[in-house]
Amino acid sequence: MRIAVTGTPGVGKTSACSLVKSMPVVHVNDLVDRFDAASGYDRKRKTREVDVTKLARSLSKLDDDAILEGHFSHLLKPDVAIVLRCSPSVLEKRLKRKGWDEKKIRENVEAEAVDVVLVEALENVADVCEIDTTHKKPGEVAKAIEDIIAGERNKYRAGNVDWSEEVLSWF
Ligand SMILES: Nc1ncnc2c1ncn2[C@@H]1O[C@H](COP(=O)(O)OP(=O)(O)OP(=O)(O)O)[C@@H](O)[C@H]1O
Ligand SMILES: [Mg+2]
Repeated sequence: MRIAVTGTPGVGKTSACSLVKSMPVVHVNDLVDRFDAASGYDRKRKTREVDVTKLARSLSKLDDDAILEGHFSHLLKPDVAIVLRCSPSVLEKRLKRKGWDEKKIRENVEAEAVDVVLVEALENVADVCEIDTTHKKPGEVAKAIEDIIAGERNKYRAGNVDWSEEVLSWF
């Protein structure tokens, strides 16, 4: 089974996945180099552009049982997508601590506020779960990922996280 652990940059995907023991974790960013799947560089957004189709095709060379960790892993044809979520105000603090510039922080906080990754996951993957990491330690997020892998889906169904109240308070 292929499990994508995805979410807006800074939600804690790498931190949580480093503590998951039940399946090998593949970092999608490493795969981009390994399979030569970078298609360019977006200078404005300071990020690599990735040929997602090429990367998805290359994944057939890997073992089937794996966690694909990365912010576009839901586009790599997983069986299940687990979207990590974080309240926009807390995400802003996490990204500031990472030393990101303000424009990039704002772009990602807004994307989280309006469910960009969740919507993309729902458009591309049949089975989508969400974990609210806002008040969870990385170990607790890892435990929730393990629970989902073990089949405990109801508590984490897509739709269990809602930032609308926080977003409305901005106006
Ligand atoms: N559950 C958590 N609670 C509090 N802080 C966290 C949690 N998970 C991660 N962090 C912190 O938030 C920051 C971002 O975490 P991390 O690098 O794991 O995110 P990411 O989703 O992998 O981001 P990226 O998409 O940029 O790789 C780090 O400084 C990390 O220490
Ligand atoms: Mg990461």
